[in-house]
Amino acid sequence: MTIASTLAPIGENRIGAEWWRSAVIYQVYPRSFADANGDGIGDLAGITAHLDDLVSLGVDAIWLSPFYTSPQNDAGYDVADYCDIDPRFGTLADFDRMLAAAHARGIRVVVDLVPNHSSSEHEWFQQALAAGPGSAERARYLFRDGTGENGELPPNNWQSVFGGPAWTRVADGQWYLHLFDVTQPDFDWNNPEVHEFFTNVLRFWLDRGVDGFRVDVAHGLVKHEDLPDHELSDDPAMGGGEHVAPYWGQEAVHDIYREWNAVLREYDGDRALCAEAWLPTVDETALWVRQDEMHQAFNFPYLTTKWDADDLRAVISESLRAYPAVGAPATWVLSNHDVIRHASRLALTEDTARDGGIGPRSTARPIPELGLRRARAATTLMLALPGSAYLYQGEELGLPEATDLPDEVRQDPTWFRTDGERYGRDGCRVPIPWVADAPAYGFNETGASWLPQPAEWAALARDAQEGDPASTLWLYRTLLANRRQYDLGAGSLEWLDGFRDDVIAVRNGAVTVVVNLGSEPVALPSGTLVVASSAFEGAELPADTAVWLLAD
Ligand code: NOJ
Repeated sequence: MTIASTLAPIGENRIGAEWWRSAVIYQVYPRSFADANGDGIGDLAGITAHLDDLVSLGVDAIWLSPFYTSPQNDAGYDVADYCDIDPRFGTLADFDRMLAAAHARGIRVVVDLVPNHSSSEHEWFQQALAAGPGSAERARYLFRDGTGENGELPPNNWQSVFGGPAWTRVADGQWYLHLFDVTQPDFDWNNPEVHEFFTNVLRFWLDRGVDGFRVDVAHGLVKHEDLPDHELSDDPAMGGGEHVAPYWGQEAVHDIYREWNAVLREYDGDRALCAEAWLPTVDETALWVRQDEMHQAFNFPYLTTKWDADDLRAVISESLRAYPAVGAPATWVLSNHDVIRHASRLALTEDTARDGGIGPRSTARPIPELGLRRARAATTLMLALPGSAYLYQGEELGLPEATDLPDEVRQDPTWFRTDGERYGRDGCRVPIPWVADAPAYGFNETGASWLPQPAEWAALARDAQEGDPASTLWLYRTLLANRRQYDLGAGSLEWLDGFRDDVIAVRNGAVTVVVNLGSEPVALPSGTLVVASSAFEGAELPADTAVWLLAD
């Protein structure tokens, strides 16, 4: 089969119509996607081997979570070398092959950039430890003397996002800041050397041909210059909460993205930056995507919205106001590698911390059928919205959270740093099933898997869904094909009146979308059915179901 490239011609001036304004971007979590060498951890060659499956799914781009050299204390978000590939994932040649194969199929490739912290195994941090207090080497990170009579107390009361204190003391008595794991020291972004280092990293990957970067902890790089104590929040996670910590959303962080925006503009082909910035509101998040900063920001206020029609209406309206107001597209996302998969989350009966996970001892146990039904309806709504949407690998199979992982296999630092109080994110990171009747469900040929796959996943394997028009895989394919056909990503939304409050009804171009979030059926307007999130009979839409209709 020959596959023509559908990428826009290089250098074409497409302001206002850039690919990232309407793209559906599929998140590949490399260690759990496909494992070509059979060691139990996915790899780049595995991604290359499955690109045609992503073409047939119908996505426009992939975003890859980190594959760089790393001790893997935070699944690769602890980078020891920003310009090389961890041997677990392959080599730079494997990366180039994967990139070329993706581009040949018209799929763009976004890589993950982790600029808030490095691994403690990064050569700069090793040099900082060796060089001692007051050195230029230490000035690349946030080393400080302690407080208390002999400096035995940390410089301030900041807590790590993963639990426990955000400061660790080194042998000579100084302390260093790590907003995440102890093996993830934070850089000092007041240091010009750090700026220069990262613009070189950007160029390294841009020169190789990547289409953009997802920027990790994009709201946290700059800390308040006084490093003041702050009132601790019940939710130590990244941003949000009542008391916004003095390391999220500091004004000077925006200068960094203006600098990077200028670097990207030197390159052709609409390269893009996407902010991972967990901020409480859409309006705050929109500050990251002003004209000369980033191009997209994840819409976490949307992701965290409950299955409630009023709340969803509010966040969708706010998003379609706030992002375009600064010249950016709205984005939409329901799942990623840090949150409970939406096929489970939407059926939770009580709040759990966002990255708290679900485990054998959790009191909140989602009902799988309800979760899947709502997840399918939620995705049917999301993929009708104008802007760019993110999918997380496995959601096209309707995968639920793996809720019964035994304690001894857990790897998320959150689990260790909270002494098992928060299960953490392992449950959404389990290797995905490709083939029902194969070792590790076709994740590889050896049957090895870095996290055990639940037995129920055999029925959800991709090959088991291939021939079933009622499957979640077919739903996603149908949604994506029609989203493309009717150009919904570039469309605009009109709210339709005349429905109950617990029903969402909108029109985007030719497509009318009705979502029933209530418990009673609702009469559908006339129109030709394009797709339904769950099968039903008659002219009434059942609870937790969404449809796309074409006007008569
Ligand atoms: C956000 C990433 O998505 C998450 O997985 C990681 O643990 C933290 N940033 C720290 O890098």
